[in-house]
Amino acid sequence: MLEVQGLHVNYGPVPAVRGIDLVVNPGEAIAVLGRNGAGKTTTLKAMAGLLPVTAGSIRIDGTDITNLPAEKRLKLGIALVPEGRGMFPQLSVRESLTMGAYHRKLSHAEVRSELARVTERLPRLTERLDQASGSLSGGEQQMLAVARGLMSAPRIILVDEPSLGLAPIVIEQLYDLFVDLKKEGLTILVVEQYVELALGFADRAYVLDKGEVAVSGGASELAASPELVEAYLSAAPEEVHS
Ligand SMILES: Nc1ncnc2c1ncn2[C@@H]1O[C@H](COP(=O)(O)OP(=O)(O)OP(=O)(O)O)[C@@H](O)[C@H]1O
Ligand SMILES: [Mg+2]
Repeated sequence: MLEVQGLHVNYGPVPAVRGIDLVVNPGEAIAVLGRNGAGKTTTLKAMAGLLPVTAGSIRIDGTDITNLPAEKRLKLGIALVPEGRGMFPQLSVRESLTMGAYHRKLSHAEVRSELARVTERLPRLTERLDQASGSLSGGEQQMLAVARGLMSAPRIILVDEPSLGLAPIVIEQLYDLFVDLKKEGLTILVVEQYVELALGFADRAYVLDKGEVAVSGGASELAASPELVEAYLSAAPEEVHS
């Protein structure tokens, strides 16, 4: 479905991603792991069209999208839920969600039904539709960021460090949502600092190190050889058990 080949991304003269190959098959859950500065966010932004690619290619269903602007990739079904959630704090939850669907040119009635569809399983958002996004708790804001991504009717969702700063119980709720979405056929790529959690959820994983893929393979195989993964990860923060 999504195929990244020989991806290089530089910030000015400084290389951040140096030849990454990555494949995401339809319906798969992929975990992208790696130390701070390994190039995870840079890779996701390049996939979403938010950063220019220095070399290499990105394809969706065989079509080259390497130089396609972000909005066109969104139309093709690639949604990014950015690190730090990318919220406009003064917008209401309803407005934030509506923005997620702006490129679909829906009627008011269609937006309403999409809002209902997306928030159906997120009661905490449903109760707070008229509240300012910035006044939500951290967990609610992360749910909102994912929900906003879902409003674009994506085929694949790229989620950057969704667990950052959240309590374990909230992280569990978030991954319950990911499991449900995956069951419904959504393809998910998640960047995660909690290795055990990510490998428990994903089908396959890529461990990045210094802008390259250091290790990749089946998530359960990687989970069974922790020394392999640990070699490329800093000491894990307090482990989260789901
Ligand atoms: N805007 C930028 N300008 C210059 N260098 C950058 C910029 N953004 C990232 N970098 C550098 O590129 C490298 C990869 O950064 P990136 O944000 O992709 O890492 P990451 O794996 O997402 O890390 P983290 O786990 O801390 O989020 C780092 O060395 C970083 O300092
Ligand atoms: Mg990052």
